[in-house]
Amino acid sequence: MQADECTLHTMNRHWSIWMIATCVACTPALDMPVASDPRSAWIESTLGAMTLEQKAGEMTQLTLGALLEGTNPYEPTEPHRLDLEKVRKAVETYHIGSVLNCGNHAFTLERWRELVSQLQTVAAERFPATPILYGVDAVHGANYTTGAALSPQQIGLAATWNPELVYDLAAGTALELQAAGTPWNFAPILDVGRDPRWPRFWETFGEDPMLVSRLGVAAVTGTQSMGVAATMKHFLGYSMPLTGKDRTPAWIPERQLHEIFVPPFRAAIEAGAMTVMINSSEINGIPVHSDEALLTGLLREELGFGGLAVTDWEDIKYLVHRHKVAATYKDAVEMAIRAGIDMSMVPADLKFPALVVELVREGRISEDRIDASVRRILAVKWDLGLVAESTPPAEHVVDASWRAGQRQTCLEAAEQSITLLKNASQTLPLSANRPIWVSGPTAHSLAALNGGWTGTWQGTDPRYDTPGALTAVEALKSSWNGDVFHFDLEMDFDADDIAAAVRDFRQHNGAQVAVVFLGELPYTEMAGNDEEVQLNANQTALVEALAATGASVVGVYLGGRPRRMEAAVEALDGFIMGYLPGNEGGTAIARVLSGAVNPSGHLPFTWPRKSGAHLTYDHKYTETLDLDSSFTAFNPLFEFGSGLNYSTLELVDFQTDQIVYNLQDTIRAQVTLRNAGQRAAEDVVHLYSHDHVASITPSVWRLAGFERVAVQAGESVDIAYELPVQQLGFVGRDLAYVVEPGDFTLRIDSLTTTISVNP
Ligand code: BGC
Repeated sequence: MQADECTLHTMNRHWSIWMIATCVACTPALDMPVASDPRSAWIESTLGAMTLEQKAGEMTQLTLGALLEGTNPYEPTEPHRLDLEKVRKAVETYHIGSVLNCGNHAFTLERWRELVSQLQTVAAERFPATPILYGVDAVHGANYTTGAALSPQQIGLAATWNPELVYDLAAGTALELQAAGTPWNFAPILDVGRDPRWPRFWETFGEDPMLVSRLGVAAVTGTQSMGVAATMKHFLGYSMPLTGKDRTPAWIPERQLHEIFVPPFRAAIEAGAMTVMINSSEINGIPVHSDEALLTGLLREELGFGGLAVTDWEDIKYLVHRHKVAATYKDAVEMAIRAGIDMSMVPADLKFPALVVELVREGRISEDRIDASVRRILAVKWDLGLVAESTPPAEHVVDASWRAGQRQTCLEAAEQSITLLKNASQTLPLSANRPIWVSGPTAHSLAALNGGWTGTWQGTDPRYDTPGALTAVEALKSSWNGDVFHFDLEMDFDADDIAAAVRDFRQHNGAQVAVVFLGELPYTEMAGNDEEVQLNANQTALVEALAATGASVVGVYLGGRPRRMEAAVEALDGFIMGYLPGNEGGTAIARVLSGAVNPSGHLPFTWPRKSGAHLTYDHKYTETLDLDSSFTAFNPLFEFGSGLNYSTLELVDFQTDQIVYNLQDTIRAQVTLRNAGQRAAEDVVHLYSHDHVASITPSVWRLAGFERVAVQAGESVDIAYELPVQQLGFVGRDLAYVVEPGDFTLRIDSLTTTISVNP
């Protein structure tokens, strides 16, 4: 495509997005036949021309593996090639509306385009011609396209506290998806990460609903600015199972559901999110895929969502086989459609559309109900521009130089995410002119930098590593002037390996420091379930053995959940949380270690100290009660919001514009950040609030705002916050949101001020 055509193409997509935004605002209209504009005219004429079988097919989403050559859809024959016989059957006989996933591994962009074009060509031949809506999980960049830039995973992005950066990354990912012909992204995760045992904790934006909401909106709007549909997932309450294990029951009182878990979805819906994916699990004994109160009452009627609701993987069937709330698959289909789903991720079994047809013919589901879902699906296809242009254009803006720019943004994000948590005796930064010794099981692993959903679902197959991407040790070697001595260790190293590592370190006694890369290798979903919350004993032993030499030891943690590791942190002189920083993470870590980058990440979660201790920062007073009646029993290893840097930053002069406010006022607060150090710095400054007396026990602190600011050495900046008094409320005893007049303390760091709200 030439530049002009390309701009036009992008504009068309922007136009579509503008239309969906407008349409989301007047959502109920989508369910009613109004044919006064081209969009409605197309939707209504297409729907009108469809048989019941075609409508049921439109609601069916098949995994790509089921259309590839081979007998097992989950392990298609290599190299992956479409089996045109299967494609024709799926499209012409079963009338499927949507395809997802990548077979079982990444493709080049060119291969994606060929595959999608072949599919769309077959779909264009059916009548009425509805294009295939293709969805993928591109959760940290286009992670199923080889060579695409890979950013930090969401937990690392949360540590940047930078919505603009999240927007830019999401827009870049979306452009890759558009180029591939897969304009539906199953991202972002809007689940609030309240329990670090949950194996998908790293896929969240952390533990605070406001942070998740702000970054979630940035991800949704960034994605959709490029004409790609974002997916809010997983509606609702998926992230806090009682067992800590994936896809196990959650028990969440309605008040807490509204207080903690609903706000990110509400914000994303208001921002125009086009699609939603449903929680595979159950809340309070009801599988969410069967929960009409949640999927229709809350999602559509209360929150006003008018877009497309897709199930998660095979989840209608699981109402029978796992949840046991339906006796037959047909009953389960009825249940899920009544509850409010529009599309079923089947993902390989084509019985679903036939069951939908039977249910309508038997009068168990009305055809009007089916029409409502099909309208929503067709609306997304139209809004993404697929009706006008279903196959990716011949040329596209995603070329090597564009990708280099995107990699740079990923590097910036990784740099802003890396969180310095301990720096005893100013061990860091290190001098890049002096030798260092590096070891640990994640030092030389791209997988450890990237985490799950990288090249493959679990992210563990090195065949799909991005060519040219650097592991942490490679990045250190390429950027360090002094020698970098690397002692390689596998994840399952033992006492003999530790002894050998210590011998090797002693042999390189010119090394100023030992840098040890700790953490874990990738996983997602149930594969990440782990009943152990401690850091592996061998990693603690390695740190302690190196520290026993008397040398300085710096630990870098690469992983998605905070392991209990008090002893290891105690033995370390410096400790850096790297999260899952993506392909540019090694370079970012090297730059932080050398001081080329002054760290500015801040923890988006509370890091527990002991095995049995887990409490979020917004806990209640009684949760911190000690035997002596003091409120001192909250003692995490690192607090929510923690993050050090190499400057001397000081917060002073915290003020509000008034002392007494009315309910409709906005509090204007200000604080000054002084940099008394020798280096320019960036910092994230958090504003917290505390309600003195409330009819629902108030949290000790709640996040009320945050700002990321830059401050030059020797200079000061004033930081302004606007906090509507309405934000100081909570979900009350009657489940309605309320702001109760009275006194509130506002806090920035250790500075506090008290204000009053009039009745
Ligand atoms: C995951 C979803 C994902 C879907 C499609 C499921 O197993 O729970 O997050 O979007 O698969 O790949």
